[in-house]
Amino acid sequence: MNDNIFILDHPLIQHKITMMRVRSTGTNEFRRLTDEVAILMGYEALRDLPLKNIDIETPLQKCSAPVLAGKKLAIVPILRAGLGMVNGLLSLVPSAKVGHIGLYRDHITHEPHEYYCKLPDSIEERTIVVLDPMLATGGSACTAIDFIKQQGGKHIKFMAIIAAPEGLKKLADAHPDIQIYCGHLDECLNDECYICPGLGDAGDRIFGTI
Ligand code: PRP
Ligand code: URA
Repeated sequence: MNDNIFILDHPLIQHKITMMRVRSTGTNEFRRLTDEVAILMGYEALRDLPLKNIDIETPLQKCSAPVLAGKKLAIVPILRAGLGMVNGLLSLVPSAKVGHIGLYRDHITHEPHEYYCKLPDSIEERTIVVLDPMLATGGSACTAIDFIKQQGGKHIKFMAIIAAPEGLKKLADAHPDIQIYCGHLDECLNDECYICPGLGDAGDRIFGTI
């Protein structure tokens, strides 16, 4: 474990992740839980956003008070499943720009394949929050972050609702400079590189394509 890995063990996050795991949790509820966990995780992941003071007037007096320093934020979901976390982050920072990285895992090799990438402008100036509910082998996360760095991205945070130890190690070894936030660290990967106990295929459960 390096200092840039944060396992967010807040009781509300843990409770909601357990509900997401349950096989009988339907699409509607799964989507809602994904959104809520993203908000709770985002609250923690954004706690180092810089502030600046502005002069305001309350009903009682003038004072100087903190607001976000206006450093630009980019939210970058890894398609498809990362889309389920976007609104949660946007509810915290509505002015954030949203990029997209389209990757799918080959069912046989489990290697990620890229099919779409578009990032907001001035990416080098932005704090970038990459979203994907599942960090399994780590292949998709590493590919996404390689791409963001090639485009000039520097200040990168990665958020996964559930991580496998294998993927967490791979990502942290490949990109020790990024902050990694996980809602839960699960036990292992199975032979098909699914996270166990996990929650199944996050994209299918969010979009009802099972
Ligand atoms: C899932 C998940 C991650 C990836 C994780 O996406 O959302 O992007 O697998 O696996 P890895 O760490 O081994 O790369 P998937 O490829 O199933 O695509 P989808 O989101 O379109 O369902
Ligand atoms: N992708 C998922 O959606 N779930 C897993 O367990 C692994 C990869």
